[in-house]
Amino acid sequence: MILLVNGPNLNLLGEREPQIYGATTLPEIETMVREASAPYGVEVRALQSNYEGALIDFLQEHRHEAQGVIANLGALTHTSYALHDCFKALACPVVEVHVSNVQAREEWRHRSVVAPATRGQIAGLGPMGYYFAAIWLCSQIPSAAEGIESVEVAAVEPPVEGEPFPPPTPGPGEYE
Ligand code: DQA
Repeated sequence: MILLVNGPNLNLLGEREPQIYGATTLPEIETMVREASAPYGVEVRALQSNYEGALIDFLQEHRHEAQGVIANLGALTHTSYALHDCFKALACPVVEVHVSNVQAREEWRHRSVVAPATRGQIAGLGPMGYYFAAIWLCSQIPSAAEGIESVEVAAVEPPVEGEPFPPPTPGPGEYE
C-alpha cells in the first residue's frame, strides 16, 4: 500500500493559480495515481489536509503498512520540521512531489526542509510528477514489481482532455 499525501491548498488544484498549477484537479490526480499503481496490485490511500497535525497523524497511523509515500506538502515543504521528523520515523521511502518548478519561483520556495528525509524529489513536471512517483515506488516493492514486464508510460491519457499536459512551465518572471 502506498500513501498519497497532499498538504495545504492542494485541494484547490484546478482553480488555484491555473497559470502555475494547471487545470488538473486533485481527484483527477488521485485517480491517476490509483490507476498507475493498480497493475502492480498496489492499493493507494490518499489524504489532503490543510493541517500539519492531520498529515502527521495519517502518516503515523499507516506507518506499519505503508510501502511508500508520495508527498506534496504545499508550503509546509518549506517550514515543517515536524513533517521532516515524521518522514524520518517511517521505514518506507518518501518521494516529494511539486507540481510547479519550485526552483524557478520565489527564493523562499527553493528550500525544502523535508527533502533530506525523502528518497528524492520531482518538481516542475505538472501532475505527471505524481504518476512517476507512483511508478517508481511500486517498482521498489518486490512482490508488486514481479509480473510487470513493462510500464507503458506513453499509454497514460492526460486527465483533462484538451488541456496541455503537463501545463507549460511559466518563465521565472511569470511567477511573480
Ligand atoms: C507546491 C509548491 C509550494 O511552494 C506551494 O506552497 C504549493 C504547491 C507545488 O506543488 O508546486 O502549495 O508544493
